[in-house]
Amino acid sequence: MTENQERVGRRLIVTGGAGFIGSNFVRHWCQTYPGDRVVVLDALTYAGNRQNLADLEEKANLRFVKGDICDRSLVDGLLKEETIDTIAHFAAESHVDRSILGPGAFIQTNVVGTFTLLEAFRHHWPTLSTGDGQRPLFLHVSTDEVYGSLGPEDPAFSETTPYAPNSPYSASKAGSDHLARAYYHTYGMPTVITNCSNNYGPYHFPEKLIPLMCINMLLGKQLPVYGDGQNVRDWLYVIDHCRALDVVINKGKPGETYNIGGNNEVKNIDLVKTLCGLMDEMATELPAKPCEKLIAFVKDRPGHDRRYAIDATKIKTELGWEPSVTVEEGLRQTVEWYLTHRDWWEPLLSEEYQSYYRQVYSSGEE
Ligand code: NAD
Ligand code: TYD
Repeated sequence: MTENQERVGRRLIVTGGAGFIGSNFVRHWCQTYPGDRVVVLDALTYAGNRQNLADLEEKANLRFVKGDICDRSLVDGLLKEETIDTIAHFAAESHVDRSILGPGAFIQTNVVGTFTLLEAFRHHWPTLSTGDGQRPLFLHVSTDEVYGSLGPEDPAFSETTPYAPNSPYSASKAGSDHLARAYYHTYGMPTVITNCSNNYGPYHFPEKLIPLMCINMLLGKQLPVYGDGQNVRDWLYVIDHCRALDVVINKGKPGETYNIGGNNEVKNIDLVKTLCGLMDEMATELPAKPCEKLIAFVKDRPGHDRRYAIDATKIKTELGWEPSVTVEEGLRQTVEWYLTHRDWWEPLLSEEYQSYYRQVYSSGEE
């Protein structure tokens, strides 16, 4: 398939489509393939937000269903009623710090929820008529955190790196990856797994590093850097992740795993200082300037993985994807987005969020 005109339309369920990456993906998909049917299935947990899809609500081909991926009869009904041929599975509990405070929800959604979807699709996909060129697919969206932590000189994670998850979050994602893999090998179900590095960009919930730092700078609050700030993450602009998933859905091979990364390894402290510089430059008014004076080294996260790095050679050579946005451009656009979307993030700083924040950060500076 080389041109959009030649492709056969898809009918997708996007689980977690009201979350950060899911909503960016739904926007990408609706804009790129306006003829496709997109059904968003999202439980609207604290991390889900219908506002993330507000600009798309008028689209006739988009349907929003509030519901839990663990609800088998709901999932069965949607698959049948909408003759779904593709599940793009984003729904998850996604924050490491919350998984440390309460792992139960992670097991329920990430493991039991993924199992429920896999079981439902196992019974559904053979009923589809593939004569018209449709290619049923279960895309399981996962993380590089399943591979564990790297030393400074270790090679980046490849698709054959053994799994060694260290947090309840990454362990639950690893469990779901293994299930998705098993459904291909055991049942021949067309399943593809992607393992991606840290995303950033618009609609990122305030609890994660980059939005938390941007919002705290705008509020003149402390910028809490865990431990010594030397932990390394690979950062990918969320739109590039969505482009990668598009390529995987259209051209990926069932049974395969694809690593997705930005080739942007950055130490946390350097990233925070870059954000401070951008905010100083771009914000017209700030409660505290320069922002760097707000940086505080705080108690480390328990079991904090030291370094993640992704070798994304396979998706580049086999499917022709590579990132298009440099980290400099992406961070600038992200700071701009948080500066101009106060009406989006302010309501998210709810009492529940403040209570979570106190639990994680109450031990204060080191
Ligand atoms: P997010 O927390 O922003 O969004 C998760 C969404 O899932 C929310 O809309 C939430 O309401 C929904 N959800 C949660 N439990 C549900 C349930 N039981 N039933 C239905 N919906 C439910 O997460 P995100 O950052 O957008 O991540 C999406 C996926 O990508 C996750 O699977 C995550 O593991 C993976 N991932 C994330 C990153 C990252 O940097 N954020 C990187 C790699 C992979
Ligand atoms: P995060 O955005 O939670 O993503 P992940 O844990 O999935 O990589 O955190 C990114 C890095 O930033 C991670 O090394 C932890 C660190 N961090 C802080 O130093 N301070 C913070 O307040 C947060 C939320 C994260």
